[in-house]
Amino acid sequence: MGEIDHWHPVLRSDALRTRPVGVRLAGHEIVLFRAEDGALGALEDRCPHRGMRLSLGRVEGARLVCSYHGWRWSAEGRGESPGTPAMRPCARRYDVAERHGMIWVKRAGVTASFPYLEVDGWFEVGRLSHRAQAPLEVVLDNFTEVEHTPSTHLLLGYPAGRMAEVETRVAMTDEAVHVHNEGPQRKLPRVIQALFGIPDEARFVDSWITRFSPVHCVYDQYWLDPVTGERAGDALRIAVFFNPLGPEETEIVSLAYASVPPWRGLGLGALHLRLTRALVDVEVRRDCAVLAGLADKQPGLVGRALGRFDSALVASRRRIARIYRGEMGGPGSGEGAPVSSRRAPSGSNPLRSVGGPPSGSFRADRRGG
Ligand code: FES
Ligand SMILES: [Fe+2]
Repeated sequence: MGEIDHWHPVLRSDALRTRPVGVRLAGHEIVLFRAEDGALGALEDRCPHRGMRLSLGRVEGARLVCSYHGWRWSAEGRGESPGTPAMRPCARRYDVAERHGMIWVKRAGVTASFPYLEVDGWFEVGRLSHRAQAPLEVVLDNFTEVEHTPSTHLLLGYPAGRMAEVETRVAMTDEAVHVHNEGPQRKLPRVIQALFGIPDEARFVDSWITRFSPVHCVYDQYWLDPVTGERAGDALRIAVFFNPLGPEETEIVSLAYASVPPWRGLGLGALHLRLTRALVDVEVRRDCAVLAGLADKQPGLVGRALGRFDSALVASRRRIARIYRGEMGGPGSGEGAPVSSRRAPSGSNPLRSVGGPPSGSFRADRRGG
């Protein structure tokens, strides 16, 4: 399997209206279009006639019309040349689907499970897209450890002086890596704390599962009452997909949800959702800014001085190579990478188990693909 063989969310549904739109994924340039009856098409964004970008064309009925000589293309890739009706040209097509308010594509004909997001009972915060100037592995690294949150994030995460108190546990199966972090919440503005219903001295839990077809993480973020240990306040569920655009460019697609209904009293719910969307946007932008500043963007981990928060990086490398790229190890897989200081501080409860499915919110949906 290769990268393009997995379902990736490449465009918001509401960005595809009557005009075709060009997107990139894993070195492929793809034109998406919506026929007048609403059916979706995804073709190579290059006319087989003389190489025009089909994304500069227009939709007429069920056909995408090339802007250069007017050849007409169906969603199945069957072409017609108005000037040479006997011709039967073919364009390369991709499988395309629409779910969770996004357009998803993969290589035509290959079998791939569709990532299924459990969001029943959750309320949409937003669907966001950001671009990071770094390879997919290096971007995923940022999203699979919390040690950067005090210095990189604006609000979401742990306090700078208390990272040693944060417990981090990693569990893994052949198909997934589960990371669970719990520690003191960093100081928040009073208004945010009140809006989310977060008690003083609450503990913040940032727990996620990474899966690799395609590469994506599903985060559950919530707070615990410092006295009872019970959940307190609102919660977030955010699915983040990593789309490789090129060797050093990765699109980060965040599908964010919250436990807060928009109709919560006096418009506070709607305000909460808008603020949460802005917060997710700010935090991912800050992550992207940090990634742009890396002096070394090589995905290999060998020789790096990794700490106790970096265990998931090594595990993810191996699964990216095997599941996502269909390779057996290879450069950047992390084989043999030294991982130092894995031990959590005294008093914490490190768990690093192998086997058994991690609990979580994402599962393979065999109904798709
Ligand atoms: S290049 Fe598209 S019709 Fe000629
Ligand atoms: Fe981050």
